[in-house]
Amino acid sequence: MKKVKKRRLKKTPILILIIILILISSSIGLTINKKGNKKNTKTKTELKLEKLNHIEKKLSYFNYNNLDRYIKYKKDNPKLSNKQIIIDVNIGLDYEYYTHTKESINLNKPTILVNKYNYLTENYIPENLEKINTKYAKEGMQLVNYAKDAFEEMAKAAEKDGYKIIAMSSYRSYKYQVNLYNRYKENDGQEAADTYSARPGFSEHQTGLATDIYNGKIDFNNFEETEEFTWMQDNAYKYGFILRFPKDKTKQTGYQYESWHYRYVGKEIAKYIHKNNLCLEEYYIQKIENN
Ligand code: DAL
Ligand code: ZN
Repeated sequence: MKKVKKRRLKKTPILILIIILILISSSIGLTINKKGNKKNTKTKTELKLEKLNHIEKKLSYFNYNNLDRYIKYKKDNPKLSNKQIIIDVNIGLDYEYYTHTKESINLNKPTILVNKYNYLTENYIPENLEKINTKYAKEGMQLVNYAKDAFEEMAKAAEKDGYKIIAMSSYRSYKYQVNLYNRYKENDGQEAADTYSARPGFSEHQTGLATDIYNGKIDFNNFEETEEFTWMQDNAYKYGFILRFPKDKTKQTGYQYESWHYRYVGKEIAKYIHKNNLCLEEYYIQKIENN
């Protein structure tokens, strides 16, 4: 009997040791678990942001509501900078043209944006339309008064330098655009027409701030080959005009390059756009929308 008792006594410290070891290991387990839990407490937004390395969150136009769209667009366009991703998505380029459209804001202001995502209603007619002097325009061409004054000043300056700038299609009503677009659609089909002509309500000619020009001799389609085009490249911004559909921005504007189409935005904005090689959409997202 005595021998048995002794054996039990010998086992006790071992049991205590085992219990201590179990307690230590379970406490380590708890710590690990806690750390793991902490990881899981990250918000969905934080986890999504991690996917967009170095995203430019501090940009004033970064919109958290567009986060899922930024991520998807980045996945589809991995070579684009994050800044360009944000600008493009804010323009709406991750959606098909003419989808997710909204009515233009800043009506009757030089900051208005009309494009394949922003439209004017059928009855929108800009205030203060005035006829351009026929010295610098075909008969009956109209622009909003301040754009008209700037255009005449610009054409006069070009004339002084020995060049001729003639407005050949300026303000166009909604109805006019209906006929024009339908004619193009019948001739070339809708897909082709959409690359060079705006659907009714989506043409900025309806703002009274845009005009097509030529030099009075060569067809406007070949305006790029003229000396007047070079003059416009060097000088248009000084009078508040920008080349609206540049060669390197066809995706952002939604239209093929148009060397003949100019838009009045005011001197300050035109200078900034010219200096920074932007199109109006890119400027609008960064400096006008939500500001
Ligand atoms: N050609 C330009 C895009 C328009 O139709 O307004
Ligand atoms: Zn035009």
